[in-house]
Amino acid sequence: MKMFLRALAVLTVILSLTGFAVAQTAVAAPIVLTGADKRPGLSLDGDWHVIADPYATGLYDFHKHEIKRGWFANEKAKAGDTGPLEYDFAKSPTIKVPGDWNTQRPEFFYYEGLMWYEKDFSYQAKPNSKVFLHVGAANYKSIFWVNGTKVCEHEGGFTAFNCDVTQALKAGDNFVVAAVDNTRHEDSVPTTQTDWWNYGGLTRSVKLIEVPEAFIDQYDLHLSRGPETASPIGLPLRKIEGWVQVNGGHPGDRIEVSIPELNANGSGVIRENGRADVVLVAAKINLWSPDSPKLYKVMVSAAGDTVTDEIGFRTVEVKGTEILLNGKPVFLRGVCIHAEAPYRTGRANTDKDAETLLGWAKEMGANFVRLAHYPHDETMLRAADRMGLLVWSENPVYWAVQFEKPEVYARAEQQLQEEIGTSRNHAAIILWSMANETPINDARNKFLSSLATRARELDPTRLITAALLVHTEANGARSTKVVDDPLGQFLDVIGTNEYVGWYEGHPDSADTTDWQVKYEKPLIMSEFGSEAKAGLHGGPNDRWTEEYQANVFDHQLGMLNRIPQLRGISPWILMDFRSPRRVLPGVQDNFNRKGLISDQGEKKKAFFVLQKAYTEKTVGKAE
Ligand code: GCU
Repeated sequence: MKMFLRALAVLTVILSLTGFAVAQTAVAAPIVLTGADKRPGLSLDGDWHVIADPYATGLYDFHKHEIKRGWFANEKAKAGDTGPLEYDFAKSPTIKVPGDWNTQRPEFFYYEGLMWYEKDFSYQAKPNSKVFLHVGAANYKSIFWVNGTKVCEHEGGFTAFNCDVTQALKAGDNFVVAAVDNTRHEDSVPTTQTDWWNYGGLTRSVKLIEVPEAFIDQYDLHLSRGPETASPIGLPLRKIEGWVQVNGGHPGDRIEVSIPELNANGSGVIRENGRADVVLVAAKINLWSPDSPKLYKVMVSAAGDTVTDEIGFRTVEVKGTEILLNGKPVFLRGVCIHAEAPYRTGRANTDKDAETLLGWAKEMGANFVRLAHYPHDETMLRAADRMGLLVWSENPVYWAVQFEKPEVYARAEQQLQEEIGTSRNHAAIILWSMANETPINDARNKFLSSLATRARELDPTRLITAALLVHTEANGARSTKVVDDPLGQFLDVIGTNEYVGWYEGHPDSADTTDWQVKYEKPLIMSEFGSEAKAGLHGGPNDRWTEEYQANVFDHQLGMLNRIPQLRGISPWILMDFRSPRRVLPGVQDNFNRKGLISDQGEKKKAFFVLQKAYTEKTVGKAE
């Protein structure tokens, strides 16, 4: 009941699409469809017609009244019409879904506003089934219609959502229309200020998923942190525990979970709230880790519905200042990654994008990636599971969001629930990050501590972190970085960002910088680095050269090794990425050049400095 009331609070937030306040609608708890990417369905990826509509002409008349025959009706001009029809999707240009619109057509490169999408499709639903339109992401606000009937609306640019289209579908020919608006707003999450390109549109895959009337909405299956037990013949037994949430199920119905390779099976009984707990006992589980990223085929079934997933089993916890993976201390040799597509740029959204980016991280000797600054898509998380990279996943509470507004908190919590609901079974994810570089004040402390509490309620099996700012105190010829952000008391792992040698001082300033950490908790240096234009060479103190960037890394690694409770580093950033803030001609040209690799795959000198440190394990405590 609590979940339902909370969902109601979140979803009665008035969505505004270019100022168009959609009526508040009380709706049931949002459908998640955990494991949607593994469910069969009809893909709607490919060409969609698009119309840029900066004045929202497809929604309002000239006095800003909502029009009855909006463009969502997808009408065709016909003889005898009593008025002009001034749009025609069939004659409008097309772009690919998934994909941002900015990098697909030059006229859309800087476009920020309302974009209409339309696609025809043929469908035949089975009787006694429900059909959902599963949207991997739509940045930033969106409304969807099927055959002219509104089926859902959503806010948040980096998390998946589902629209129930069962009643709107017809047998045979159908069409879907979406209005997607990437306009930034002060009260959005993130807010108007970011350091990345505001790629708009249907940036991740869209597909129709058909389920029985009663279906598996969410499930969580993880290795119990409890002790290993022994079978009667002495085999080491471990418990896999979790739950299955059935939508439309009847209390007393059963759910089944099986892992054939482990010859492990478990069942549970659905309670009043639709949830059934389940435990499986298995011998000789091959625990998931970066060195051995073992995934098991898992079948979850209930009420005639089945989801087949691939899940790795491991434990992660904190003990004092150590991070323990499967009970052993681990040092996170990492790197930050934006969802920027290698070579073509734009939003990354394919298996190939993910395998290229994570392949570069593995080549560097990394065992960890900070997927900044928003939840990445399932292709990236599946690749991390397969390739063995531990993941820091992040909610887009970035910089100065409007912490004092309850509706902004509701938006952040809604995106957190979507992030965890979708991605909770990825063994690779060990950290849920609440925020990045947020200003310290009472409203923010309350906002983020509440978000951390909510994250633990949703998922008690992972660690909670955030990337914090630090302040500097002079100490004679030396300086001290002080980590005493009050939010730290609510985190399991402290993340801190610093740019000694780039935004402050010179590369060798790190040699005279000490650290004072108020918390006896593991610390991850979640950002540090320097810009360099690939191929620009000079002396080690010539800014913007590869030599300068490499010099910063040399001095940084020495400083980092002097922090006793350092348990991980993720330098900013693996690859150059587009940002409207970065405009130095001939060097940045709308790219943030802190990448260790250019957007065209050119490895800079600093890449090899870090690769040496990681492969020889000269940074951090060798576990
Ligand atoms: C900040 C911020 C990043 C940004 C980086 C930079 O730490 O977290 O999003 O891109 O600094 O200035 O390059």
